[in-house]
Amino acid sequence: MANPLLEVKDLSVSYGDVRALTGVSLEVEEGTIVALVGSNGAGKSTLLKAIAGLKQAGSGQVLFEGEDITAVSTKHHVDRGIVLVPEGRRLFQTLTVLENLRLGAYLPKARTTFEESLERVFGLFPVLKERANGKAGLLSGGEQQMLAIGRAVMAHPKVVMIDEASLGLSPILTRRIFELIVALNQQGTTVLLVEQNIHMALNVCHKAYVMKTGHIMMSGTGEELLANPDVRKAYVGERGSKLV
Ligand SMILES: Nc1ncnc2c1ncn2[C@@H]1O[C@H](COP(=O)(O)OP(=O)(O)OP(=O)(O)O)[C@@H](O)[C@H]1O
Ligand SMILES: [Mg+2]
Repeated sequence: MANPLLEVKDLSVSYGDVRALTGVSLEVEEGTIVALVGSNGAGKSTLLKAIAGLKQAGSGQVLFEGEDITAVSTKHHVDRGIVLVPEGRRLFQTLTVLENLRLGAYLPKARTTFEESLERVFGLFPVLKERANGKAGLLSGGEQQMLAIGRAVMAHPKVVMIDEASLGLSPILTRRIFELIVALNQQGTTVLLVEQNIHMALNVCHKAYVMKTGHIMMSGTGEELLANPDVRKAYVGERGSKLV
């Protein structure tokens, strides 16, 4: 069988004396949506940061297209096609929508596909075209999340990692963002997403991993995990009010 697009092998990461990840392994097949779920502090964001090269691994490996990229700098990750949409969106609020999108395509390879990528982003998120010359800071929360994902798409990614796409959004907007993530995936982009809205995440993903205190506890298809009584009890039920 071909290598998975992305593979994490036995990864451990610490913040000083605090161990955030212990022996984490996962695989992301090309063309799929993989969800990473689990309670607060489980290590989900740390795992995305380690894959993106923003947090150094203590031990273990990150392989992309079969190549060891564990010690490679973030800039090279983006060049290879690994792009992170961080929690909190991190937009340039005083710049326009278009200027923010342009910054997503700052590397030489992405610059050559700028027009094509912009068309793709405006196709996925027509509201960004309407607001292209408006300041990013004036967009609604949902539109800002679209811009953050759009900026990642401008980098011409092979895999987009999205940390908490639905944070702070209404159920209707959450559903809309998820539809757009599915559309992005159907265009061929692989997606690794971290999500508090477990029900929604398990519904759209091809595969999911459940994390707890720095470990992977369980993995399976979204369907399998939704049917699992332990998962339902621990995660789905407790967030019943957030189900959409
Ligand atoms: N900058 C940091 N310095 C020290 N410890 C940190 C730092 N960032 C995260 N941690 C710790 O690492 C562990 C994993 O945190 P992480 O943010 O990866 O979890 P998470 O699953 O994304 O949680 P949440 O659902 O709250 O976003 C936690 O114990 C957290 O306190
Ligand atoms: Mg987090």
